[in-house]
Amino acid sequence: MKHLLKLLDLDGKDIIDILNLADQLKYEQKHGIAHRHLEGKTLGMIFEKSSTRTRVSFEVGMYQLGGHALFLSAQELQMGRGEPIEDTARVLSRYLDGIMIRTYKQSVVEGLAKYGSIPIINGLTDDWHPCQVLADLMTIREHKNKLEDLKLCFIGDGHNMANSLIVGGLKVGMSVTICVPKGYEPFPAALDFAKEYAATGKFELVHGPLEAAKNADVLVTDVWSSMGQESEAAKRQQDFAGFCVDDEMIAVAKPDVMVQHCLPAHKGEEITAKVFEEHAAEIFDEAENRLHAQKAVMVKLMGSN
Ligand code: CP
Ligand code: NVA
Repeated sequence: MKHLLKLLDLDGKDIIDILNLADQLKYEQKHGIAHRHLEGKTLGMIFEKSSTRTRVSFEVGMYQLGGHALFLSAQELQMGRGEPIEDTARVLSRYLDGIMIRTYKQSVVEGLAKYGSIPIINGLTDDWHPCQVLADLMTIREHKNKLEDLKLCFIGDGHNMANSLIVGGLKVGMSVTICVPKGYEPFPAALDFAKEYAATGKFELVHGPLEAAKNADVLVTDVWSSMGQESEAAKRQQDFAGFCVDDEMIAVAKPDVMVQHCLPAHKGEEITAKVFEEHAAEIFDEAENRLHAQKAVMVKLMGSN
């Protein structure tokens, strides 16, 4: 594994290896056991979109690993004025030991990996959010003690989160149901991957939320308007009517259903405040696990062993 560009590039074993290391690093962090695997290393963090969790968890994670993180706003870099990605990649590869980037186009992330010579980590694009889904899988495994054969049901927009959950969930043996309003289907790359799983009943794409949530072990949702889609918010609020994770949906899921939300949440839209608060422990474990999962990714990519 040279980069983390999207979960499609990893196999199930790579994902489980990351989760195992994340569990170990979490244990060590909680017990004051130092793990300075990245001493003297620097991570550049390029942001073209807003962030709370990604920015803070990568920076803190790098610090805890003995390294240093550099916040780089894309707007203030020359790439914001049009410096080509192939030049940016080659320059930054001379200074840094790794780059985490949050941007719009997946091609920018892939371009950095193609032209640079250091590990690249996707901190969210329009297409994928691999770091988030690694944290989600870690949290689900912590709470359920397994991943295989659990039913994960995503209710919402077929965007970066849905795409990554399809690939990540299926690769670790979960059964994945994606429920979106018509016209908001996941991206072709995720659906193409899921095709063979649909044939065996492990994957389904549906449009009826209550039917989809039936017997779910894990219900996952995300905002109806992602970053960059704000101008469509009013239309989306109409199109997503009935897609709010509420008591009715919880009632048809398994009695011990857990709820995941990558955050930030728009309570009263994709999830009721009541369901959110009743499942806040799992949701904030999920947020915390961004730190541990990403530390594992950085050790795997940037560590010497
Ligand atoms: N879930 C997530 O990626 O959060 P941020 O946008 O705050 O980084
Ligand atoms: N789908 C959301 C996820 C935010 C972490 C977005 O892209 O804005």
